Amino acid sequence: MSALSADLGFAPAKVNLTLRVTGRRPDGYHLLDSLVVFAGVGDRLSVSPADDLSLTVTGPFGGPLAAEPDNLVLRAARLLAETAGIPARGALVLEKNLPIASGIGGGSSDAAAALRLLSAFWRVTLPEPVLQAMALKLGADVPVCLNRQAVRMAGIGEILSPVPPLPPLGVVLANPGLACPTPAIFRARAAAGAGFSPADAVPAGRFASPVDFAHALAANGNDLEDPAIAVQPAIGAVLAVLRAAPGVQLARMSGSGATCFGLFPSPHDAAAAASAMRHDGWWVWGGGLYEPPLRAL
Ligand code: C5P
Repeated sequence: MSALSADLGFAPAKVNLTLRVTGRRPDGYHLLDSLVVFAGVGDRLSVSPADDLSLTVTGPFGGPLAAEPDNLVLRAARLLAETAGIPARGALVLEKNLPIASGIGGGSSDAAAALRLLSAFWRVTLPEPVLQAMALKLGADVPVCLNRQAVRMAGIGEILSPVPPLPPLGVVLANPGLACPTPAIFRARAAAGAGFSPADAVPAGRFASPVDFAHALAANGNDLEDPAIAVQPAIGAVLAVLRAAPGVQLARMSGSGATCFGLFPSPHDAAAAASAMRHDGWWVWGGGLYEPPLRAL
């Protein structure tokens, strides 16, 4: 167990830099086109040997989850064991550092971390397409969270394609402390009579500078931002605070909200802006994108 890298269980925040709703499937799920990145902040999942499967939830946002009899991490663990044909055994501990139902994929990233960590812990090697199919069964955002890399995400979340390398962005994440359930935001969007957008979520070209990249992103948007503000007006206040931060290049909502992000010229600028942003009941973080640890050659 001690040989397992702690990084396997790191479940970083997913950030939708852009999000277009391009259509709707007959089953009601929406077709999306989104540029997804991962931030250097996240939940942490660890596991130690045990005779059965259990989950302890800790951390600043662990309260509501600790009271639930089941959650995505346990479902991911059981699905993996069932698919591999082995018993599900292990004492899992989830340190919940990300706000719940907040548009940065906390639950999805936790489920993906469970698949990664337990595959190593149980020494299960499943083909990539099988892992991806399991991830999709757990939730539309789980496949993108498996690899934790910047990608273009299409379909309902299962079509992932590479994007050119991104510049070293500074990112501030800010959440007003309000849960924003995804189905309610899609419903609000439909009620407002919104149509579908073209698939234009990724700006063309390569950008060496975070400032140039942020400016290129300004031409895109998040189609769920207006409906989310209609449901939770506090999101508008978060965006106003981010837009007033010194050095900010772009501010936008992630996913179905309520977390919003600001892009800055560097991780250092973002960390400074976040520490100056103090609002009661808000969760604020600033830094850079998630970077996987360097592997020894
Ligand atoms: O797949 P997941 O359980 O994360 O999705 C939660 C809900 O969000 C779905 O039941 C659906 O209402 C909505 N959703 C959607 N289109 C997507 C992803 C989610 O309509 N691509």
